[in-house]
Amino acid sequence: MEKPAITLARAVFPEVVERLALHFEVLANQSDASWGPHELAHNLQGRVGLFCTGSERIDADLLAACPQLRICANMAVGYNNFDLAAMAAAGVVGTNAPDVLTETTADFGFALLMAAARRVAESEHFLRAGKWTRWSFDMFAGAEVHGSTLGIIGMGRIGQGIAMRGAHGFGMQVVYYNRSRLDAVTEAACKARYVDKDELLAMSDHVVLVVPYSQSSHHLIGERELHLMKSSATLVNIARGGVVDDAALARALATRRIAAAGLDVFEGEPAVHPQLLTVPNVVLTPHIASATMPTRLAMANLAADNLIGFLLGSGPVTPVNADVLAR
Ligand code: DGY
Repeated sequence: MEKPAITLARAVFPEVVERLALHFEVLANQSDASWGPHELAHNLQGRVGLFCTGSERIDADLLAACPQLRICANMAVGYNNFDLAAMAAAGVVGTNAPDVLTETTADFGFALLMAAARRVAESEHFLRAGKWTRWSFDMFAGAEVHGSTLGIIGMGRIGQGIAMRGAHGFGMQVVYYNRSRLDAVTEAACKARYVDKDELLAMSDHVVLVVPYSQSSHHLIGERELHLMKSSATLVNIARGGVVDDAALARALATRRIAAAGLDVFEGEPAVHPQLLTVPNVVLTPHIASATMPTRLAMANLAADNLIGFLLGSGPVTPVNADVLAR
């Protein structure tokens, strides 16, 4: 029997490619060439499955150009690269890669918080530039982390992981804002108190964003919200570019409206707002919150499990549009 044909849009662990090749006829972009939408469509001709990342946009044009496509498996928990309405109309299943990256990503959120609040990058640049000639009492004095108030916007699995670290590891008072309130048992485990978003912004020493990107979370943090924050506060974005108005944030950092920021995601990434590159009080990383080899391997294997499950009949493991399956 002929194997179903799939395309891997980006380079990935060779063992995952080999695993997929046991079941499928695989076209793998192992050289990691940059495929634009036309090249992606070209490389998807006649193929039923796509292994993709958050960088590949799955929209009506692509789906119209690839009528045989039946599943797109994201190697990412976020799936704002999926146009779900277009996928529903085309009957294409989408899957993501939740859970396997929760703790690793929460670790990184905390790393950015610590680095920004305690001015790690700024002081390291100073040292490397040969500017350190003597110690002084207030040199790179930052904000207290232990015992401070941690505000988390978006209290899904990763948000909860950050809350656990803050409450149990650093004795922080944790407040959170989420579309829906958590149950009492989860709130107690995270030692987290539900508050209104504006209240959270006003009372927190450190604000961490972990919300999915959607039209409703676009510029969730803009000029108005930055003005609600303490001037000593830190803002961390490990959610998605576009959740923060990066231009407004760059201005707020330049004028010290807030003290510091740690950003792993950017509007229009891999481009970064030019003013963010010039302000010293921000730590910038290239979308690496889930980047440890074991976690990335687990993400890739989960995307592969979804392709195998769906195309070989047992069903996808983590679909994001189960309504398409139900048809
Ligand atoms: C995710 O999994 O959504 C990460 O942001 C990587 O894209």
